[in-house]
Amino acid sequence: MTSNELRKNFLDFFKENDHSVSPSASLIPEGDTSVLFNTAGMQPFKRFYLEPDLAPGARVTTSQKCIRTGDILEVGDNTHLTFFEMLGNFSFGYPAKQGSYFKKEAIEFAWKFLTEVLAVKPSRIYATYFAGDENISEDSESLAILKTIKDLHKIVPQGAEDNFWSLGTENSPGGPTVEFYIDNVEIWNLVFNEYIYQNGKYVPSQLKGVDTGMGFERLLASLNNFDNVYETDLLSPIISKIKEVAGSFHPFHEKDFRIIADHLKAALFLLNEGVLPANKDQGYIVRRLIRRAIIKLNGLGVRENVLKEIAQTVFTIYTGVYDFSIYTVLPELEKEEVRFRVTLASGLKLLQSKKVLTGQDLFDLYQSYGLPLEVSLEEAKNHHINIEENALDSYNELFKSHQELSRTASAGMFKGGLVGQSEQTTKYHTATHLLLAALRQVLGDGIHQKGANITDERIRFDFSYAEKMTPEQIQQVEDLVNEKIKADLQVSMQEMRLEDAQNCGAMGDFATKYGETVKVYSIGNYSTTEPPFSREICGGPHITNTGILGHFKIIKEESSSAGVRRIKAILE
Ligand code: ALA
Repeated sequence: MTSNELRKNFLDFFKENDHSVSPSASLIPEGDTSVLFNTAGMQPFKRFYLEPDLAPGARVTTSQKCIRTGDILEVGDNTHLTFFEMLGNFSFGYPAKQGSYFKKEAIEFAWKFLTEVLAVKPSRIYATYFAGDENISEDSESLAILKTIKDLHKIVPQGAEDNFWSLGTENSPGGPTVEFYIDNVEIWNLVFNEYIYQNGKYVPSQLKGVDTGMGFERLLASLNNFDNVYETDLLSPIISKIKEVAGSFHPFHEKDFRIIADHLKAALFLLNEGVLPANKDQGYIVRRLIRRAIIKLNGLGVRENVLKEIAQTVFTIYTGVYDFSIYTVLPELEKEEVRFRVTLASGLKLLQSKKVLTGQDLFDLYQSYGLPLEVSLEEAKNHHINIEENALDSYNELFKSHQELSRTASAGMFKGGLVGQSEQTTKYHTATHLLLAALRQVLGDGIHQKGANITDERIRFDFSYAEKMTPEQIQQVEDLVNEKIKADLQVSMQEMRLEDAQNCGAMGDFATKYGETVKVYSIGNYSTTEPPFSREICGGPHITNTGILGHFKIIKEESSSAGVRRIKAILE
């Protein structure tokens, strides 16, 4: 059975049983900021359980687009997905509202749909119900109904953890559930909303309701006798495309193919709803999904930008079901891929050079190289790199104080790290750009600025590097800076969009403090194929030619903190 047939069978069955068919709501909950995404079919209908008169009818059925990120590390096993559809039938306002129904009809509909419409053999199915706990009594009503089903041979009592469902937010409905399993995989959850969650307690509600949710991809896999959702027509074409692009079919990589397919699909659905990659909320999830997919592709040896090409298969799968605004989705996807790939290799190299990752490392990997936290943690695990105790706490603190700094900066209180703007300071500022470029040339492009303090007397410059520099390296850096001073290179400034700056390889720290447009200072000649000696995002000001800087001298090289070195230098 194809996905399109199954979706249609489900909606038609409930339509024939007097349900109105509603289109899927958006993935982003409307007028509800308690959650980032719709995670269940009932979510758009939450208020109808309390106010059934607002509902489009007493009976509704949908196939709802859902995103669940809580299980993101399970993705790639046989059943977990970030984006999935939930097939559901709903009843509101029972018993007052005409046409509403409760446990008996809901259980009978489910049994009939599974065993008659889909012709699943009863021997493959079993059911569970709520056994009761110290707060809420056993759902003996559901048990009695299940017992009347002649061919249902296994009925299992379970606790609240498995068979009681609620969104858990104030004023949300909740209640005991009956679950149907096929071949031991949980397929359909029937929730009988007879409570409301208020002030930390479940209070019996006057009006009751039904909320069912069936994992579409899981059911489709079961019906086709696949042991995993990735073989269904909703995912297998994406996986084939990834294999083609990667030129790799090794079974060892199967999990990576699955993760890429899942993440790309979820990201495309979110981009299609106007959620753009960003550093917070839904945008951050899109960013993480895209970046994690790219990391996996990179691990498979794919260095080119390929997401756009793979995305076409997703659009094809959903033709006639969901419309994609391809001309807005694809450029956004590509932009994020281009942006991330610029820093990816150096980020991974830096990560892999560490024996232990601190909170500062994790923060820098995100801040300077764009590696989302869980990606760094995963890579660390793969390369047997330890995570320092409390690293996550200090990461979170850095993240918070960085946001504080961003706010201060955007309020205009922070100007390019300059204490004063005397001519000498301006010279030192330009010399700092030369120093960073020289360090990267001598020590490798894993080097990033960690901080700078410039006065009229000297530069103090912190940068990421794990070892003490040798005297030869110090000499090489000094010589290179002096060579560039002698060459009297021109310092030029261009204003451009932040992402263009990043795409052209401009160095920059504290990325999010920048606005939409930034100033990019280049030192030395350049062409479209040849980058200048130095190119940095910076507020300025700078001198116009390096020749006036005099002689550059490093007076000290020392440790600043773990993995960070400090150079003090002067112009003579
Ligand atoms: N709302 C129920 C669930 O998500 C059906 O499992």
